[in-house]
Amino acid sequence: MTSRFDIDRFMEQSGAVELDDIAWEDVPKYPLTPEALRALRYFMTTESATFYYLRGLIQTKPALAEPEFAPFLCAWAFEEEFHGRAFHKFMRAYGVDVDEDYRAKMYSRRTGGERKDEIGQFLLSVLFPEAWPAAHMAWGAIQEWTTYTAYTQLIQRTGHPILETICRRIMKQELRHFSFYYHQAEERLRSSRFAQELTSRTLKFAWTPVGDGMSSKDDVAHALQYLFDGAEGTAVATIEKKIRQLPGLEWFDLLSRYVSRNGIRRAPESWFDRSRVESAAVLA
Ligand SMILES: [Fe+2]
Ligand SMILES: [Fe+2]
Repeated sequence: MTSRFDIDRFMEQSGAVELDDIAWEDVPKYPLTPEALRALRYFMTTESATFYYLRGLIQTKPALAEPEFAPFLCAWAFEEEFHGRAFHKFMRAYGVDVDEDYRAKMYSRRTGGERKDEIGQFLLSVLFPEAWPAAHMAWGAIQEWTTYTAYTQLIQRTGHPILETICRRIMKQELRHFSFYYHQAEERLRSSRFAQELTSRTLKFAWTPVGDGMSSKDDVAHALQYLFDGAEGTAVATIEKKIRQLPGLEWFDLLSRYVSRNGIRRAPESWFDRSRVESAAVLA
């Protein structure tokens, strides 16, 4: 099927996030709390994990059969890889030691749930080739929108001007990714009650927040607390409100259930108190 999303325009605009003009030498001048760095590392890991998700995705039937999927997935994975590299470079410029083999380590640590997801995804795409893309697209829309919201929060909560510039550029691309997934999901869900049912059941059974599976549960909880104030903030409701606009997903409450179930609450004020840390430039 063809969607209202202009894939040709998307492909023409796709590319590595622009970083040539970033003053990397100034990165350590602005202090970041350890909690901020931990959240940043989480997103570096999450962005760098796209390669592995792509591995699972391209084995599914719709990835080959749907004309817009292959070009999108190529450009999407390329852009996400550069998001991970941007955070990697930022952290190293700040003075944080990031192992060069962090990606291989991350993959070897990935949870059993992540492996089961890959197999489940493949089986569902074979069993329900018509309806499965709706579930996949809705899932993608949720993860992209969560990421976009996370970066608006990261900017506001770290107060680091160079990180803000990088995040704003990345966010433009996240918004375009979200738009693809959302439009695809919307059209597929609207035209099929069965696709709505399959999508709802899949999400209720298997969905977890973006980045879960490649990081520890503690790191997931930390990111959701640092950025969103867990169950006590407004960001979770804002994310869910957007997703509930998709046909058949009016019930969507999985992120609020996740933060409540895991007791994730407001982040302590001290996590944002930059006066408690010296800038890395001063420490050096
Ligand atoms: Fe990204
Ligand atoms: Fe993205």
